[in-house]
Amino acid sequence: MGGGQQELQGPDLSLGIPVADLADGAMLLGHANGDAVLLARRADEIFAIGATCTHYSGPLAEGLLVEDTVRCPWHHACFSLRTGEPVGAPALNPLPCWRVERTGDRIRVTDKSERDPLAPSDEPTRGVTRTRARIHAAHAVAPSTRPPERIVIVGAGAAGNAAAEMLRRLGYGGKVTMLDAEPDEPYDRPNLSKDYLAGNAPEEWIPIRSHEFHAEHGIDLVRNAQVSTLDLPRREVQLTTGATHGYDRLLLATGAEPVRLPIPGADRAHVHYLRSLTNSRAIIEKAKASKRAVVIGASFIGLEVAASLRARELEVHVVAPERLPLERVMGADLAKFVKALHEEHGVVFHLEDTVTAIGDGDVTLKSGGTLPTDMIVIGVGVRPRVALAEQARLAMDRGVVVNEMLETSAPHVFAAGDIARYPDPYTGERIRVEHWVHAQRQGQAAARNMLGVGYPYDDVPFFWSAHYDVSINYVGHAEQWDEMIVDGDPFARDVAVRFQRAGRALAIASIFRDTVSLEAEVTMELQGQS
Ligand SMILES: Cc1cc2nc3c(=O)[nH]c(=O)nc-3n(C[C@H](O)[C@H](O)[C@H](O)COP(=O)(O)OP(=O)(O)OC[C@H]3O[C@@H](n4cnc5c(N)ncnc54)[C@H](O)[C@@H]3O)c2cc1C
Ligand code: FES
Repeated sequence: MGGGQQELQGPDLSLGIPVADLADGAMLLGHANGDAVLLARRADEIFAIGATCTHYSGPLAEGLLVEDTVRCPWHHACFSLRTGEPVGAPALNPLPCWRVERTGDRIRVTDKSERDPLAPSDEPTRGVTRTRARIHAAHAVAPSTRPPERIVIVGAGAAGNAAAEMLRRLGYGGKVTMLDAEPDEPYDRPNLSKDYLAGNAPEEWIPIRSHEFHAEHGIDLVRNAQVSTLDLPRREVQLTTGATHGYDRLLLATGAEPVRLPIPGADRAHVHYLRSLTNSRAIIEKAKASKRAVVIGASFIGLEVAASLRARELEVHVVAPERLPLERVMGADLAKFVKALHEEHGVVFHLEDTVTAIGDGDVTLKSGGTLPTDMIVIGVGVRPRVALAEQARLAMDRGVVVNEMLETSAPHVFAAGDIARYPDPYTGERIRVEHWVHAQRQGQAAARNMLGVGYPYDDVPFFWSAHYDVSINYVGHAEQWDEMIVDGDPFARDVAVRFQRAGRALAIASIFRDTVSLEAEVTMELQGQS
């Protein structure tokens, strides 16, 4: 999934350090036998785990300790200090652990152990805060005495793949079948508009899991498998090929699809959308033979594509109707910075404008005139892929309606990820969220609930977006706010913007304020639980 090794820093922990060097609640970065090791202390307990996040190699020593877990500063993965288990996505692989020996007033790390990624989970809950654990315990129902025999997952994206893995981590021994319309193994979708598209990520960073991995763990992934019908009374799904798969529990994780622009010429061969690995590869191929590109839409994906095409030295024009890119989501201060950042890298904006027609070698602007171009990428938003759910007449509300256990209106049918509209405990509203980490965590929660564990989904949404060397992190969910508090300066790349409604923080967007972002997440979690 990418990233590199951190340089070894700090003391050699295999030789030992005075215990007084590690205060209660503190972390210390060191190394042992060539591995970066993170020591963490909770009262009299001292833990030693790998210091490098298994997602994109984030530096865990710069993260946040929460109870007996550590959260990564970059994309908020959460690991158990006791076992190294990745108790919160986006990390799916565990960290190594070391034994800590205490002799008098010194401690040293000794034996290293590594767990299998799908080893049975030691965490009945995500293990993030005691309050949270108590709440989960209160909701927990006894796992059904007869576990389901067959679980079918439609969609092997963020939510589907995370759900399949979690089923095995929970020790589920029944049949797991994952059906996906695409030809590829599960892959790192966020990277498709970032390093991969820019040419900075090797192919091996992109797959999340290999065919062998699924086979080894008894996950039957059927690719090129487009599910066309969901038959509730018969408890089966049917593929376009006519093949059927019966289920005892079903997870719908069909994601979203790009909104298509109904303008003349939008079906031309040099017009691209970006959702899948196939799409990203097609854009790369076209970019190799192009000098100029027009990106229609200043969405996160549109802007990330613009940055990646600039990295490939194409001339890039972005056409979008808004006054400032991302202003509706991020507010004016961050939007001005994002615009300036892209301009600094040579992107030319045509804002408060739209494309009315696409020709062979140019696009026509509403404001008049044309822009010559060799290729076009359209990024004007996505809509949830709900055809299956609609056909089965599940309850819908701009997405598939689910309860706190992520169960749809049909018994034994669950939904997670981009398609699911769920009750958000923090705001009390029903929301639908289109983020990678959120989809993975919903998939993991749905896995628990399909086994009858009773695991209400209450994670705080989180996403990141990367533009050149700047990553914007966003925690919470604010569709509308009445107050925006800016702490710091986006242009100094040091800022946290708080979006509030009726005096209550709904979300925080930040640049290089990782601790603030992590702390906000914990605060919102606790408030959502109270
Ligand atoms: C280019 C790009 C960059 C992104 N960057 C970020 C980012 O930086 N940060 C972030 O938080 N989010 C990002 N996102 C959003 C994030 O990827 C999605 O929110 C997330 O993938 C949603 O997960 P999901 O499991 O709901 O759907 P998906 O990951 O889209 O998976 C759905 C799967 O279902 C399959 N499917 C659909 N219908 C059927 C059917 N009928 N039969 C069989 N299979 C079917 C699809 O082929 C697909 O593989 C990005 C998205 C894209 C496209
Ligand atoms: S690098 Fe740690 S969560 Fe992404």
